[in-house]
Amino acid sequence: MKDMHEPAPDLVRAAHIDSDGYAEMYARSVNDPEGFWGDEAKRLDWITQPTKIKNTTFAYPDVSIKWFEDGELNVAANCVDRHLETRGDQTAIIWEPDDVSDEAQHITYRELHTRVCKFANVLKELGVKKGDRVVIYLPMIPEAAYAMLACARIGAIHSIVFAGFSPDALANRVDDCEAKVVITSDGAPRGGRVTNLKDNVNQALVHSAEDPAVLIVKRTGQQIAFRSNGDYWLHEMEEKVGDDCPPETMNAEDPLFILYTSGSTGKPKGVVHSSGGYLLYAAITHQYTFDYHDGDVFWCTADVGWVTGHSYIVYGPLANGATTLMFEGVPTYPDAGRFWACCEKHKVNQFYTAPTAIRALMGKGTSFVEGYDLSSIRILGTVGEPINPEAWNWYNDVVGKGRCPIVDTWWQTETGGHLITPLPGATPTKPGSATTPFFGVRPVVLDPQTAVVQEETATEGVLAIADSWPGQMRTVWGDHERFVKTYFEQYKGYYFSGDGCRRDEDGYYWITGRVDDVINVSGHRMGTAEVESSLVAHPAVSEAAVVGYPHEVKGQGIYCYVTLMEGQEPSDALVKELQTHVRSDIGPIAKPDVIQWAPGLPKTRSGKIMRRILRKIAENDFGSLGDTSTLAEPEVVDHLIANRPQT
Ligand code: WTA
Repeated sequence: MKDMHEPAPDLVRAAHIDSDGYAEMYARSVNDPEGFWGDEAKRLDWITQPTKIKNTTFAYPDVSIKWFEDGELNVAANCVDRHLETRGDQTAIIWEPDDVSDEAQHITYRELHTRVCKFANVLKELGVKKGDRVVIYLPMIPEAAYAMLACARIGAIHSIVFAGFSPDALANRVDDCEAKVVITSDGAPRGGRVTNLKDNVNQALVHSAEDPAVLIVKRTGQQIAFRSNGDYWLHEMEEKVGDDCPPETMNAEDPLFILYTSGSTGKPKGVVHSSGGYLLYAAITHQYTFDYHDGDVFWCTADVGWVTGHSYIVYGPLANGATTLMFEGVPTYPDAGRFWACCEKHKVNQFYTAPTAIRALMGKGTSFVEGYDLSSIRILGTVGEPINPEAWNWYNDVVGKGRCPIVDTWWQTETGGHLITPLPGATPTKPGSATTPFFGVRPVVLDPQTAVVQEETATEGVLAIADSWPGQMRTVWGDHERFVKTYFEQYKGYYFSGDGCRRDEDGYYWITGRVDDVINVSGHRMGTAEVESSLVAHPAVSEAAVVGYPHEVKGQGIYCYVTLMEGQEPSDALVKELQTHVRSDIGPIAKPDVIQWAPGLPKTRSGKIMRRILRKIAENDFGSLGDTSTLAEPEVVDHLIANRPQT
């Protein structure tokens, strides 16, 4: 078949599973989920074995999702303690610092155990109890993993806030989850630049309604401002506590973490993940999707501030007793060969990154890849956005030398782990397709208007899932109704992903991108409503509408239509000011790429902004504006087209 990539026979032989094995296991997973997941649950160490496996319904409005509900376990014990006997001296975490001249660290499972227990005792010393929330705002340092596992050990719920987020974004999250402690560091080095994270925390807490203690990891040793009280150095606190900390007994359904993510409306939602189902799902997907075998060195380049870092730097790999690499820096520092230098240095076996990074490196030329010995790499992975075939082929040819299967993994913060992905020894791949569902996952393609399930194999529509899987989010923190409304109201009986897709004649899925008002910038989710509310908070702005537009490296860029207040004059200086405003309001990833002055926005007679038209203009696609007859003032469209800035 045209452009079908088959895995090499020796890889298939050595793999956990081949195509027949996949077909058989998949069939059982969807025909007998109780039996399948009941067996798979044995991959975890339970304090109390679960007897009730699946208790889930997508029926609107009584959506309820419970897995292994009478089981008890501790996630940290599963990721650390149970490995001590067999692999205590094996490296659990390889830490590669930002600066190439600094030495990498190798943390064994035994050391990890001690560090996590001490960290957990420090949290207890600060008064943290089972069920309390702890916000983690750290750079990519091993302490981020210690902090996560320390929370899990004592039953506290962590919520990681990406260190690139602004003080305001941090404050909103601290307030929403009512955090008892915020864990941060003095400085955060990244790409040769250092951010003073403690300063950001200080600013955030001025605006926050909460009064959490702040625990500070010493990373850079730079000067930082202490608040008058409530600030503690981790290393000083650790001197006061012992390293014995028995793991708390947790119910499988107890929340493990909250992770805030952008939706199409309102403020970011606190996605809640469970202890049992989530961990099991992270572990099984890590094993099968990456064909992970004992002794492999696994590298996921994401930040732990995103779900990818949660599931595939920390929980999945550590549950499987893997060696997981954690990288503090960026792909282009000190030069565009950093990823490959690091793969060579640490003999990485599975390498997992985002299409935006691949495109950026592709743009720098092959010379940065050549010269490095990448023969240790067996599997390549991508995540975060659709990968264009050009980037796929470059990854395959230049990095993988045509011998490494590429797993294009489709999933979401909400799903906990991969839902649609090739398995290396089982699934022939096609550039740009996430291929076929993981075990237990029942994708359906719905007609967006009629909500009818498209039965024929080759079809197109919106992507939904017909039944629950263990890694599924359980609720929105503090707002279950929002959870039900966001994911289950529009298409009754299904989990609606928010993505559009095409299914080809081989049953392969091709994700076409978001169908809601979420955009995907460098693989990071951004709600257009968030950027809009930041813009209108600026005194010069009266109204704003934000859409995505195709961007060569970022996948999508942020395109803003801005209407100014009476008396305000458009200028280049104001463009810069608004860009800086949004950047400091939300964070650097939200900085608008394009600002177009819009004396008026296209609206329906009832006052609804017609985003479809704004998207088309941003895409430079004026030929297919569709029906504009319902517009209140059709001439505003002509004005916007005539004045569209060059991009
Ligand atoms: C997009 C990241 C195409 C998609 C794990 C999804 C993808 C959103 C892929 C979730 C992929 C993620 N192919 N699109 N392989 N992976 N997406 O929550 O639009 O940050 O809905 O989770 O990213 O982004 P999130």
